[in-house]
Amino acid sequence: MDMKFIFIILMLSKALVDAKLNFWRDFASPWKPIINYLFLNDPGLIRVRKSIEVKTEINNVTTLDFIGLVERYNYSAEEHYVTTEDGYNLVIHRISGSPLIINNQRKKKVVFFQHGLFCSSDSWVTIGPNKDLAFLLADQGYDIWLGNIRGNSYCRSHVKLSPRDKKFWQFSFHELGTKDLSAMIDYVLNYTKQKTLHYVGHSMGTTALFILLSVKPEYNAKIKLGILLAPVAMWKEVSYAVHHIRNKIPKIKEFLDSNKIYEVLPLSSKSITMGRSLCANKAITQAFCASLMFLIFGSDPVLLNTTAFPEILSYFPAGASVQTLYHFYQNFVTHKFQSYDYKYVGNYKQYKQVTPIMYDLNKTVVPLCLFYGNNDLLAPKANVFETYRHLPNVILLKEVPYKFFNHMDFLWATNAKALLYNNVIQVINKY
Ligand SMILES: *[C@@H]1O[C@H](CO)[C@@H](O)[C@H](O)[C@H]1NC(C)=O
Ligand SMILES: *[C@@H]1O[C@H](CO)[C@@H](O)[C@H](O)[C@H]1NC(C)=O
Ligand SMILES: *[C@@H]1O[C@H](CO)[C@@H](O)[C@H](O)[C@H]1NC(C)=O
Ligand SMILES: *[C@@H]1O[C@H](CO)[C@@H](O)[C@H](O)[C@H]1NC(C)=O
Ligand SMILES: *[C@@H]1O[C@H](CO)[C@@H](O)[C@H](O)[C@H]1NC(C)=O
Repeated sequence: MDMKFIFIILMLSKALVDAKLNFWRDFASPWKPIINYLFLNDPGLIRVRKSIEVKTEINNVTTLDFIGLVERYNYSAEEHYVTTEDGYNLVIHRISGSPLIINNQRKKKVVFFQHGLFCSSDSWVTIGPNKDLAFLLADQGYDIWLGNIRGNSYCRSHVKLSPRDKKFWQFSFHELGTKDLSAMIDYVLNYTKQKTLHYVGHSMGTTALFILLSVKPEYNAKIKLGILLAPVAMWKEVSYAVHHIRNKIPKIKEFLDSNKIYEVLPLSSKSITMGRSLCANKAITQAFCASLMFLIFGSDPVLLNTTAFPEILSYFPAGASVQTLYHFYQNFVTHKFQSYDYKYVGNYKQYKQVTPIMYDLNKTVVPLCLFYGNNDLLAPKANVFETYRHLPNVILLKEVPYKFFNHMDFLWATNAKALLYNNVIQVINKY
């Protein structure tokens, strides 16, 4: 569910740049609502724990928080906090018990979930018990922890900086891997007094793991097994939509920078209201919502439950930095899996070398299971195979056995359990 909306943004921005619209001051611009949706963060989003607390006041949008999402099904949940070495305050969530497990007290094996681009810990529990992998594993007696990365809807806080500061948004998946992931893994292992954990990552959640293990290889010892859903590292090809706009991307970046836009698609009352109204079952615009998703992720009308759109779009997209998207762009243009390129002087300041850091996939020595979709536009087979070629310890490389399985199906497909999760659970049980 990662990079989907990037492309919409980029295409819309392209149209704007081309038209040289001064839309910021032009209230009559038809683009205004779209721009607001994509970039502006507005107040009015209220996280609640129980839906009965929801008031129907106009302008107030409420949505459940992670604990509310989980407790509504009688699973127990917790929220934990950790601060990264560079000052970002992160929220980690936990499903600590399942109603199907009688003795929730005994020491359990930890499974750590890391979401991808534009997602949050909510993305793992939006569909519900007996459907979402996180609930299924909790039912098997695992201790489920779910990470959140800097800048998403839960992690907009820093010891010094504010999300209004440019500096707050100067990060990409390099920092997610080297700083966020390491801090969260250390916290979870220390808290649970475990030596190792099982890692489940989706999309950029897999990229972050590769980076962590390449830059800080000592973390290999803390991970028992990595389940990588739609892994993203090496780029051999990009989808048609991206290819179409690739030459414009640097211009778009410039445009965003000059307009002081550092964040894209935050979760906000506006985004939720639009998602709930435009994509609802009775809305004539629902087909448009579906087409947009198919354009970005790959088309799979069969496994997409459009009835769940309003629910899904109450938690997604959850925000990302412009720099993160630009980092992906740099990687697919150079065909190199390397850190963000700040150019000569900037690189020296960041990395103490004038070139970006090359990530060495050969240092990922933990056993890995790679699952990919045949119709995934954001993690296409060619890229997954190229990544696979560089990995020294892949114990399973598997295509989900459904021809049209796309990037978001890993989280939302109506029968993800039969097609994928049962297999994942089997592997985790074995290790
Ligand atoms: C609901 O919105 C009104 C104004 O639109 C605001 O004054 C009020 O504080 C909001 N309610 C909550 C619980 O934030
Ligand atoms: C949760 O537990 C309460 C009390 O035991 C019960 O009334 C309710 O039906 C349960 N809810 C679900 C979704 O299982
Ligand atoms: C480890 O956890 C204990 C409590 O369980 C806490 O007191 C201690 O500060 C933690 N250590 C680190 C390095 O987080
Ligand atoms: C689709 O989503 C709705 C609303 O979340 C749910 O009630 C329904 O069971 C789902 N259908 C399938 C086939 O999963
Ligand atoms: C990867 O590591 C192994 C063992 O450490 C080494 O034998 C091999 O040459 C390395 N491959 C590359 C491409 O660096």
